[in-house]
Amino acid sequence: MTRKGLLLLGLLLAAAWAGSLLAADGDVVFQRQEGKEQSTPPAVFPHWSHRIRYSCYACHPAIFEMKAAATATTMDDIMAGKSCGVCHNGKTAWAVSFETCTRCHAAKQ
Ligand code: HEC
Ligand code: HEC
Ligand code: HEC
Repeated sequence: MTRKGLLLLGLLLAAAWAGSLLAADGDVVFQRQEGKEQSTPPAVFPHWSHRIRYSCYACHPAIFEMKAAATATTMDDIMAGKSCGVCHNGKTAWAVSFETCTRCHAAKQ
């Protein structure tokens, strides 16, 4: 490969890396599964406040794919200790309760 080619490749890789980091900083708004109750606002996942506590591998790819809306999630999964419930179980992090619904379901519709 020519030097120019290598430089271009380097720039592309740097841009891709920066892009994935930026994507990982924003809030991810979940999509409601079809056939489920639709009046509760969708769950919002604040990436940044989790990233400062964990490495990417704590969640990707075992619990969540690295793509918004790629991982189907329901309250049943969470209550069964999957998805957000891996941690939001009252031990690792605060649990699901009627006091905490709006911490996750924070999106305006
Ligand atoms: C505490 C769990 C957790 C940690 C730690 C975490 N993520 Fe995520 N990430 C998620 C969840 C949840 C989603 C949304 C998945 C969905 O909507 O199906 C997501 C989505 C993403 C997406 C897709 C965003 C989009 O808009 O498409 C990228 C990229 C990503 N994560 C990168 C990272 C990187 C890089 C790190 C580490 C620096 C990281 N994540 C750390 C939970 C986490
Ligand atoms: C730790 C975060 C979290 C907490 C706390 C939480 N939820 Fe959820 N909830 C989710 C996620 C993620 C989904 C899947 C994405 C979506 O449908 O918004 C979901 C889905 C739902 C759904 C859609 C139907 C279903 O069964 O999946 C309803 C209704 C719901 N939640 C109600 C509640 C209520 C009521 C509370 C409080 C008792 C609550 N949630 C607490 C994260 C949470
Ligand atoms: C790997 C463990 C882990 C997973 C998985 C996880 N969380 Fe958390 N989350 C935490 C911890 C730890 C905190 C901080 C708890 C505290 O402050 O007491 C937190 C805090 C939060 C907060 C408060 C944010 C803030 O700025 O204080 C929200 C909202 C939240 N999580 C939503 C979610 C949702 C929605 C999911 C699933 C999509 C999820 N979390 C999955 C560990 C996790």
